[in-house]
Amino acid sequence: MESMFWEREIETLEREELEKLQLKRLKATIRKAAKSPYYARVFSEMGIKAEKIKSLADVKHLPYTTKDDLRKQWPYGLVAVPREKLVRMHSSSGTTGRATVVFHTAKDIDKWTNLLARCMYMVGLRKTDVFQNMMTYGLFTGGLGFHYGAERIGALVIPAGAGNSKRQIQLLFDFGTTAIHVIPSYAMHLASVFEEMGLDPKSTQVRMAFIGAEPHSEKMRQRIEEIYGFKAYNSYGLSEMNGPGVAFECPYQNGMHIWEDSFLVEVIDPKTLEPVPEGEQGELVMTTLTREGMPIIRYRTKDLTRIISGPCPCGRTHRRIERIMGRTDDMLIVKGVNIFPVQIEKRLLAVPGVGKNFLIILEREDYNDSMTVKVEVERQYFQGDLGQLEKLRRKITEELKSEILVTPKVDLVEPDSLPKSEGKAVRVIDNRKE
Ligand code: COA
Ligand code: AMP
Ligand code: ZN
Repeated sequence: MESMFWEREIETLEREELEKLQLKRLKATIRKAAKSPYYARVFSEMGIKAEKIKSLADVKHLPYTTKDDLRKQWPYGLVAVPREKLVRMHSSSGTTGRATVVFHTAKDIDKWTNLLARCMYMVGLRKTDVFQNMMTYGLFTGGLGFHYGAERIGALVIPAGAGNSKRQIQLLFDFGTTAIHVIPSYAMHLASVFEEMGLDPKSTQVRMAFIGAEPHSEKMRQRIEEIYGFKAYNSYGLSEMNGPGVAFECPYQNGMHIWEDSFLVEVIDPKTLEPVPEGEQGELVMTTLTREGMPIIRYRTKDLTRIISGPCPCGRTHRRIERIMGRTDDMLIVKGVNIFPVQIEKRLLAVPGVGKNFLIILEREDYNDSMTVKVEVERQYFQGDLGQLEKLRRKITEELKSEILVTPKVDLVEPDSLPKSEGKAVRVIDNRKE
């Protein structure tokens, strides 16, 4: 199998050299982060100084950073450069009230773009390719992130965005698309639209897909590859660490290389917060190593994975992580959008007439995710004018859609008909099967 390098030297750097580089960058990151109001305070309280970091193991003396810390510091608390140096903001979905926002300088965007070019070049994207990006643009990182990366390689980019499936397929044929970026469940759904249109998914010129933004199994990947007759490569990232371009499969498809020149990687036990032995499952924790606009120290991703030990036949020295096995929190990913049940709860409680209990049911029908929210409402709505009930249902649907960015199906039910939601009552039933 051909090994393809965007930056051979850095991708194959001897581990010892790579670790030296990480140490140098870690110290520089601490100095940069100390310029942000948040880390300036935390570092001073904890007596943290870059000079005290003697080895990579000293990272354990640094504080963890969580989504909650980012929310509390909203909007600029972690920004480490003057405002005029910032050129871009992105935000993660799945935040209550205040979003977790991440800011980038021009240099940050340049480095992020380079990482995405590295990922896509690794699996064979070239300037002769036509790349169709089926992710939502805007605040989501999967749109502009991949877009810039593919342009950096010199491919022709079609910024199709999400949805509009028939047009999506039309574009594939009209412009001879050879590579796509798509959410795995949507790739499956799109296959059924091909069928509806009397078209064969194998009849396009697409030879590779980058799939990510939601958990999926090896079986799902294989199914996508069989249906379309192309290769599908797993792509992992999160807004707090730029977005996509954090870890990506190489042509061997045996785990995702995580770019260790840009991220310092730890895997910890989420309960004890101690590192797990290499190769064991735990929560992925990352520190940005090159970011200047908003460096983040020891970010707890809440994603569960493990390091795959041993060299990869492709020759890259950056370690690999296993596909994401789950989360340590209750975040749901629906149609590639992150949702916390508490977002739904908050919005429901603000609507007059809504009772205490609700239930979220997730289903996957014809590979289309759907979310039903059953909501208890006051008994009076069931006793008189049904128009009132419908009006309330529509209002709740709009409220929820504006909060969670996907359209839920809302079912209004009588009081006391749902399980009580005190304590740890199950508020989510996930019936999605691949
Ligand atoms: N990716 C792309 N398109 C999707 C999709 C997905 N994950 N899930 C559904 N769609 C399509 C539907 O098939 C439908 O297509 P159609 O126009 O051919 O009918 C269209 O989007 C609207 O679907 P619907 O289920 O009515 O939408 P919604 O209001 O519940 O959600 C989306 C709207 C799809 C725009 C929203 O869920 C989204 O932006 N998802 C992608 C998020 C993303 O890019 N994440 C990456 C983060 S890096
Ligand atoms: P966001 O910050 O909106 O980009 O969402 C990031 C989250 O999406 C991650 O923390 C993961 O939980 C999930 N995610 C992203 N890529 C993948 C992937 N390839 N496999 C599984 N989950 C993923
Ligand atoms: Zn490899």
